Amino acid sequence: MSAQHLPAAPEELELTATLAVLEAAVGDARLALRRLHRELGEQRAVKAELDLRTCALDALTTCIAIVDIRLPQRPFVFLNQAFAAMLGGAPDTLLGASYDRLPLAAGSEDASAAMREAMANGREWRGEMRMCRSDGSEYWVGMTLTPVHGADDALSHYVAIGADITARLEADRRKQELQERLLAEMKERERMAIELRLAQKLESVGRLAAGVAHEINTPIQYVGDSIHFLRAAAADCETLIRQYRSAIDALAGGAAAAPVLEAVRAAEAQADLAFLAEEVPKAFERTLDGVDRVAGIVRAMKEFAHPDPTEQSPADINHAIETTLTVARNEYKYVASVHTDLGSLPAVTCNIGEINQVLLNLLVNAAHAIEAARRPVGEGRIEIATRSDGAHAVVAVRDNGCGIAPEHLDHIFDPFFTTKEVGKGTGQGLAIARSIVVDKHGGDIQVRSVPGEGTEFTLRLPVGGCARREAA
Ligand SMILES: Nc1ncnc2c1ncn2[C@@H]1O[C@H](COP(=O)(O)OP(=O)(O)OP(=O)(O)O)[C@@H](O)[C@H]1O
Ligand SMILES: [Mg+2]
Repeated sequence: MSAQHLPAAPEELELTATLAVLEAAVGDARLALRRLHRELGEQRAVKAELDLRTCALDALTTCIAIVDIRLPQRPFVFLNQAFAAMLGGAPDTLLGASYDRLPLAAGSEDASAAMREAMANGREWRGEMRMCRSDGSEYWVGMTLTPVHGADDALSHYVAIGADITARLEADRRKQELQERLLAEMKERERMAIELRLAQKLESVGRLAAGVAHEINTPIQYVGDSIHFLRAAAADCETLIRQYRSAIDALAGGAAAAPVLEAVRAAEAQADLAFLAEEVPKAFERTLDGVDRVAGIVRAMKEFAHPDPTEQSPADINHAIETTLTVARNEYKYVASVHTDLGSLPAVTCNIGEINQVLLNLLVNAAHAIEAARRPVGEGRIEIATRSDGAHAVVAVRDNGCGIAPEHLDHIFDPFFTTKEVGKGTGQGLAIARSIVVDKHGGDIQVRSVPGEGTEFTLRLPVGGCARREAA
């Protein structure tokens, strides 16, 4: 029997159609479900990424917050942990709080006004503000506000990045304090150095004064003696003149010449006229010489103590050496003879008072060294030679004193280094000499010494002088 295809019943047809529609709907639903799954996954991924970024921002010690500037209260829409902690709360509790209610401390009004003004005009702002913690303590915050523009280019948010800079400001303050203290100490040291130098100058002037008084005393004594002699001679001459006058009167009155002449000769013999004729001119010479010597010492003393401690002007170094030798004669004359070999020198631009001070120190050191060497009288010798060497004037001071021990050579220019007993030396002479020659005149000072034989100091001074350089 063959199969018979019967036409489908209408109900069956309707069912088939409904089934197809249902299948299509299920397909669509599956697709939608897949899409939903995918989107959900993507959203989860985005959320996870956002959480990660928030974690990273929370891990920072820098304070970061975002403020929505479109709303009148300007609320925080994001704060990392650090920013929230700085304000004394948790990010969740501070979200939505107004940025304008930052707990500013008194004294931050200007900074706050400038910040608001910048925000109102959409400008970036950087500044420092003093803020209050909930416990009332205050701290400093350094803040940068950067405007953020939305897709429509309109200003929408501000990113606030801040940091508690109290410790840094405190460190800065301490650094500043330290610098100020250091500066004050340096000034104090400079003042002490100046005072010490002045004290040394006064000490040397004081020591010289005794020597100078002694130096002046000798010529003054023979000036005095000569004047006494001249006064006696003048009295004798007066007596003689009286005798001559009365002889003239007698002869004019017709007296016999012989007894009159006899009386005159007796008076002349009494006055020792021949002696007077020989000695009076000598006494005048001695007086003039003594007065010249006193005047020379006084002049040298005045030149030696040059008044201006800063001025440099062209000066005659050879003349300065002679001046110093004059004022310091009493310091060396009992232990040494001085020999000078002064070559021709151009005028040297310098502070001659300071150079005199250096020469005096070298001269006194030489005399002390000869004294320490216990040379027999007449054997002590100080030689001073000058010469011109290109753009420099060279001064050498040599002595045949005790010399300097090799282990001391590196220290003799150190302040307060001395091998002398208390009262004889303070150890400043050479330190000051070097500061004057090297620092203030751009010159050089060298020493050569052989223990037991002697020492030579050589100064080199630039002829043209040197701009004053402050000593270190
Ligand atoms: N010509 C010299 N011969 C031997 N030693 C010297 C000579 N010049 C200096 N010295 C040594 O150098 C040291 C330092 O000399 P400096 O002139 O600085 O100080 P001082 O002479 O001891 O004291 P001050 O000069 O302050 O009175 C001296 O104590 C001495 O030991
Ligand atoms: Mg000295």
